[in-house]
This record gives sequence, structure tokens and C-alpha cells, in this order.
Amino acid sequence: MERKKFYITTPIYYPSDKLHIGHSYTTVAADAMARYKRLAGYDVMFLTGTDEHGQKIQRKAEEKGVSPKKYVDEIVATIKELWKLLDISNDKFIRTTDDYHIEVVQKIFKKLYDQGDIYKSEYEGWYCTPCESFWTEHQLVDDKCPDCGREVELTKEESYFFKLSKYADRLIKHIEDNPEFIQPQSRQNEMLNNFLRPGLEDLCVSRTSFNWGIPVTFDEKHVVYVWIDALSNYISALGYLTEDDSEFKKYWPADVHLVGKEIVRFHTIIWPIMLMALGLPLPKQVFGHGWLILEGGKMSKSKGNVVDPVVLVDKYGVDPVRYFLLREVPFGSDGIYSEEALVNRLNSDLANDLGNLLSRTITMIEKYFDGIIPEPKEKETVDTELENMALELPGKVDELMNKLLFSNALTEIFKLVSRANKYIDETMPWILAKDESKKERLATVLYNLTESLRFVSVLISPFMPNTPNKIFSQLGIKEDELKTLESLNNFRGIKPGTKVEKGGIIFPRVEFEKQEAEPEEKHTVKSEAKTKTDEQAKPEITIEDFAKLDLRVAKVIGCEKVKGADKLLKLEMEVGEEKRQVVSGIAEYYKPEELIGKSVVIVYNLKPIKLRGIESKGMILAASNDDELTIVSPLTEIASGSVVN
Ligand code: ME8
Ligand code: MG
Repeated sequence: MERKKFYITTPIYYPSDKLHIGHSYTTVAADAMARYKRLAGYDVMFLTGTDEHGQKIQRKAEEKGVSPKKYVDEIVATIKELWKLLDISNDKFIRTTDDYHIEVVQKIFKKLYDQGDIYKSEYEGWYCTPCESFWTEHQLVDDKCPDCGREVELTKEESYFFKLSKYADRLIKHIEDNPEFIQPQSRQNEMLNNFLRPGLEDLCVSRTSFNWGIPVTFDEKHVVYVWIDALSNYISALGYLTEDDSEFKKYWPADVHLVGKEIVRFHTIIWPIMLMALGLPLPKQVFGHGWLILEGGKMSKSKGNVVDPVVLVDKYGVDPVRYFLLREVPFGSDGIYSEEALVNRLNSDLANDLGNLLSRTITMIEKYFDGIIPEPKEKETVDTELENMALELPGKVDELMNKLLFSNALTEIFKLVSRANKYIDETMPWILAKDESKKERLATVLYNLTESLRFVSVLISPFMPNTPNKIFSQLGIKEDELKTLESLNNFRGIKPGTKVEKGGIIFPRVEFEKQEAEPEEKHTVKSEAKTKTDEQAKPEITIEDFAKLDLRVAKVIGCEKVKGADKLLKLEMEVGEEKRQVVSGIAEYYKPEELIGKSVVIVYNLKPIKLRGIESKGMILAASNDDELTIVSPLTEIASGSVVN
């Protein structure tokens, strides 16, 4: 049987500026989609590249005193490296300065001219060089470019024109008949109401006032308008109008052109009309995503806010950066980028939720089953709940991915991670382990955790291409059949008897360092204040607010004074399987030896802080008034790790 095809493109990038994290956004999204479709068994063509002609580039090169070709060659090399660094799995990379592309554009231009869709006249109007965009007098806003707000230039030159007007009605009908063509919906209304329905003017498609472009073969003083040149890449890359057009025949029409919202207009008006005039089918969809708004604009050291993707990847790793881009902002909307938000995502979703799930699971299998994944036995209700959630997940993810709802797909996947963590709290394997008669129950619980991790790993692979293998190798999964989407119709995939291999922490927690170091004292003061009664009652909260707190019983297994800080004690805690350190401002009230062996209650999910340079993870609950303090403790003995609610 022939495999289903999927053709996805990114815009081709201007090699004019250093690429920032916003540029990586379109490409990372397209990559996740391409990887997902490959995982789902499609024959995928994923295209990206660079848009190298035009007045803007010619001017930049002149400013630098180099030839335009030399100028673009250098930048294109760095763009290719960036995509490699971000694990972009494009099948092709097109440069509009490639010979084959130039020839195809010349043929397209000639064909449209020969059939009367392109004609010669004179252009008089305004031009925005940064946008490479023509505007009429009445389209300008305050005499500036309506798209970017920058200066426009009066342009008067002999030009060729493309008869957009001739095809306008056909295009309006196509958009109305195919609601999927322009997505999200809001962009469709914008195109119809602001551009198409008021009437299209013919488009100027050649320039004579500069020469960095593709020459018009039959009138050499003209170069082809850069957008006609650039848009053609989507078919020239596949060999359209060349000797070997087999890829064009195989993959065209594109399934989706992924573009930023500011260039939807070019992709949903000029491009489809070019295709209509060439007698070619239109792409199935143009998806216009929102912008990543960079806090304070450019990268600024003083804000500790890095926007250079190379620096970010270096600091945090590829997978966390990719995860952040696709998780943080609902695709389609604008979102604000900040490095702090990235660090928060990394710590909460990746280090805490996913990383901990893996390390807890592996640790328990090592401890209770000598590192061998045990055979699951009879199911209880909690098991079925977890299993059903896992089994339903691939279908949900598929539906969301097909709508390019990356953030929602990740949210669904991470619900399984949270559910599995909760499953540990509910089943309490460390209690089961104390009772020989519960051995089979313990086996089932631990087995189910390994399967949950397998499901998560397969499904995150389009987003985070490096993480799944780390998880698979710790789980001892070697068989490729267990790493496929199809294998997720069975929650009994992993073979009992598989040996786990504890590895390193897959996502180490990181501290976000603002450039101005925060004064250390601040935290100490804060923790002291916590031991005082509040004069004012706090506002009412909902049960959901309360549910955000993860309170656990912890056992003090070690305790000592913090040197040089007479109010602080450093406590070693056992919380179920886990050991952690908490620093608390209670040294005036307790001697270290009084606390060892005691059970206390801690806020388990409190963001870690450093007190006098010592990491503190969690906070001990204590009751206090102006002169007394006592630690809150369970009335009778209960296993550490037990949940308080
Ligand atoms: O427009 N947030 O190229 P380009 C999100 N050459 N996306 C952003 C962004 C941000 N802060 N900054 C840039 C061009 N992008 C043309 C395309 S296609 C035939 C020709 C996205 O380098 C932008 O929206 O200016 C666009 O999708 C892509 O980066 C390339 O932008
Ligand atoms: Mg742009």
C-alpha cells in the first residue's frame, strides 16, 4: 500500500539579521509537526530555506561593503547551523540563489507573461523596503507602512504587473468554500474583509532600480519582485518545471504552509493566485501563527533575558528550549517570551514532573525488584484509570496535532505524567514493599509506571527528539517496536524481566539568574516573618487554591545548625522514597537532636530557595505567635511521604 503523503513548509528566512528565538519558533513548530507525521507513518516532505534576493539585502550588503552573494553566504551558513543545533529534521533546504530555483522562477514569469497574466506598465506608488511590500497612497497609515510602521519610499519605475484582479473572485470563492484554507479563522476574516472584498489591484512584479534579484529573461533590466521569487520556492524545491518533477508530482499540493501572521497576506492572496494562473492546485492550508513578543525588544544582559537561540540551547539544552516554545504559547496567539518563563517550565514540567517520575520509578524497581521490571498481576480501579488515560492519549494528541494545537497536545501528554505521579502517591509502593503479601500488587504498580513512561516518551518525541531515548535506555527498552505510535494501543508493551539502568538526571533543575543578584538576606527575612502570626486574616481561597499545595509528611533523619546563621537549622528529610534538604528558621526553638526521628509536615512543592547559600527544598509547617513556636506533627506515626490534605 502506498503511504500517505504530508508536505509541510516554513517560510524561507531573510538572511538579513541575526536570528533570534522568535525565528526559531516557526521552524521548531514545523519540525514537531513533520516528526509527528513521520511517527504516524506518513511519507513526509519538510522544506525550509532562505529568501536571499531583494532591495533590503542589497542595501545591507552595500553597508557592509561586500557583495550581496558573499553577505548572504555567511548568514545562510549560520542559519543552517542553527537548525542543526535545534534538531530540525528538514528534508530539503532551498536557497533562492540556487541555480535551479532561479531558472524555475524565470520560467514561471515567462509563462505568466506569455499567457497574458503579466503585462508591462509603469508603477507609481510607495514601497516599504523592510517588508518588500508595495502600498498605495490610501493604504498608508500616517504616511508610514501599515504593516511595520516604518518609512516608505516613493517609487516610480517601468514595471511588469500581475493581473491579481482577474482571479480575485475565484479566490474569494475558494476561501469561502474551504474554511480550512486559512487558519486560524480570524486571519481568514481579515483577508476577506481588509483585502479581497474591497477589490484587488494588479501587483507590480518587477523592479528596475536595483539588480539583486532574478533577471526577467525577456527584459534584462528588470528583476523579479522578491515575493514572486520567494513564494515560488515551495514548488521549485520539488522540481516543478524541471527535468525531474517527480517530487512535485508526489507531494504537491502542500498540506500546510506554516507562516507568521504578518505574511499571511502574501501566502493567501498572491500565492494562490500565482498557482491558479499556473493551473496548479492550491495548498490545503496556510496557518498563520502569532508572534513571540520579546520582552524589552532586543537581548539585554541587564534583564538577564537572552533571545539568542544558540545561547539558550547552550544554557538549557535543545529539548527544554523546544518544549518551551511549543508549550508556552497557544499556537496562533501572540505570547510574551521571557527566559524566566522558560526556566519555570523547565523546572516544573520537565525536572519536577517528568524527571521525578522517571527517577522515582527506576529507584523503586531497583530497590524492590533488583532492577528487573516485574510482571503485572490483577488490576484494581486505580490501575484501570491510569491505563485508560494512557490508551486514550494518542487519539487526543492526534486530533490536536492535526489542528496544529501544539500547546494543547503537550498539555494532554503531561496530564498523564501528573496522573502517574499521583498514582504513586495513591498506591504508596513503599508501604506495599513492607508487606510480603503485597508483592504482586507492588509489581503491578511499578509495571504500570514503566508503561506510562513509555507512552509519554513516544508521544513527546516530535517535540523533544532527544529525551525519549534517555528514558527508553533507563527503562531498558531496546526494541524499536515499543517506540512506535502503533505500539500505544497496548498498555502491556514492555516485557517483564527487562532490566532497568539507572542513568543521570534527565532534566536537572536550574536557577534563573537575574543579572542583578538578589540580596541573600531577603529570603532569611521572609522565612522569619513566616513564624509570626499575621495581624490580618488572609482573603478567602477556593478548594482549588488549596489543592495547589502539596503537603507531605516528612521524617527528620538528620539535623544541624547552619554555621554563621544562629536562627537556621539544616534538616535532612526522608519523604517516601526521596531524601531532601530543608533549611528552617527554627534554631531558637529546637536543638538539632530534639528533631531527629520526628515526623513533620512540609510544603512539598514549594519552589526551592537558597538560604545563606544552602539549598532548601520545601518548608516545615509550624504554629507560632509572638513568643512561642511549635512544629506541626502527625498525632500518630504514619509513613513519610504520606499526603496531607
Ligand atoms: O518573512 N515570533 O522572512 P523573515 C514569531 N522571507 N515568529 C517570528 C518572529 C517572532 N518574534 N520573528 C520572525 C520572511 N518570525 C520572508 C518569508 S516565505 C515565501 C518568505 C517568523 O525572516 C516570521 O513570522 O522575516 C516568519 O514566519 C519567519 O519568522 C521568517 O521571517
Ligand atoms: Mg519578517
